[in-house]
Amino acid sequence: MPVVTCIDDLRTLAKKRVAKAIFDYVDRGSYSEATLRANRADLESLALRQRVGIDVDHRSVRTTMLGQEAAMPVGLAPVGLTGLNWADGEILAARAAERFGVPYTLSTMSICSIEDVYGGVSKPFWFQLYVMRDRGFAAALIERAKAAKCSALVLTLDLQIQGQRHQDLKNGLAVPPRLTLGTAFDIMKKPGWALNVLRGKRKSFGNLEGRIPDAKSLTTLSQWIAGQFDPTLSWKDVEWVKKQWGGKLVLKGILEPEDAKTAASLGVDAIVVSNHGGRQLDGAISSIRALPEVVQAVGGKTEVWLDGGIRSGQDVLRALALGAKATLIGRAYAYGLGAMGEAGVTRALELIRAELDVTMALCGLRDVKQATPGILRPA
Ligand code: GLV
Repeated sequence: MPVVTCIDDLRTLAKKRVAKAIFDYVDRGSYSEATLRANRADLESLALRQRVGIDVDHRSVRTTMLGQEAAMPVGLAPVGLTGLNWADGEILAARAAERFGVPYTLSTMSICSIEDVYGGVSKPFWFQLYVMRDRGFAAALIERAKAAKCSALVLTLDLQIQGQRHQDLKNGLAVPPRLTLGTAFDIMKKPGWALNVLRGKRKSFGNLEGRIPDAKSLTTLSQWIAGQFDPTLSWKDVEWVKKQWGGKLVLKGILEPEDAKTAASLGVDAIVVSNHGGRQLDGAISSIRALPEVVQAVGGKTEVWLDGGIRSGQDVLRALALGAKATLIGRAYAYGLGAMGEAGVTRALELIRAELDVTMALCGLRDVKQATPGILRPA
């Protein structure tokens, strides 16, 4: 087994093992991928201040998210099609998160259903909601999340319509995966992936099967999204969701201070500064650049988290320095899952925690909650 020392190693392993269409779905972004690249580049451009002569024994990276204890300021973001990277991937990722002590968010567009994951874990997980045109269906998803004792609902606001991901079209991404002339050669080189995914409980969208016509034979994800996701989704609907749900609510996909203010005024529990990992509005600002203004606009009224480009503990610390209470990782753990299943998700979390711990110490901090803009050098 190769020595895995960083998230990029997990990415390399996942690329070798997972079918190209599924790997690319995780890995790539929309249109020219300018925002995808900016998320990483802008994080890396933030220089940390190396401090010396400070006692950095007895450190802690623990925090809370929505008032719940977290082993570090990192949660698992919703990732569509997780269970096609590794059979029953959602259950495995949720278990890895539970054992590690960080929150797991199940995507509406998951392969395992809400009920599958509920049956596979022992502590509450979070559910991410897309609002469909059929409000009855959205309400039913909310009820199912309640029945599965989900402890927070993460409402995604930035995917009423889908940004085009060129690579998904070129790969003919289909759910369930299809063996075609185009994909046969690639899949033949990945027998481990094919046998493993065949053994999985499901191969299509677990939350939709039996409830949406054709959920078993969806051609492309984007066609389905175009037909079903509700482009009219407005702040009024956010209030509707809040009422239906009645529990902790997180709004994901905020980049602008104006929107952050509106979100905070609705009394939500957290917002996620996010451009959907560079998968939606190509040309949008990177999430790390958007963060300080959003933090200022919200003024402590709600927790502010960040996702987009987090691949290391250094990145987590940079986000905390600019005012995020926590971060979410998507690709970083999906690579781990694709590389080695549940052990790979655990490995991704361990790597990030160890990097965060050492980086914080080298910046002269003993507690991750002490991160302020002062640990960064001015640009
Ligand atoms: C869905 O959320 C996606 O980004 O593909």
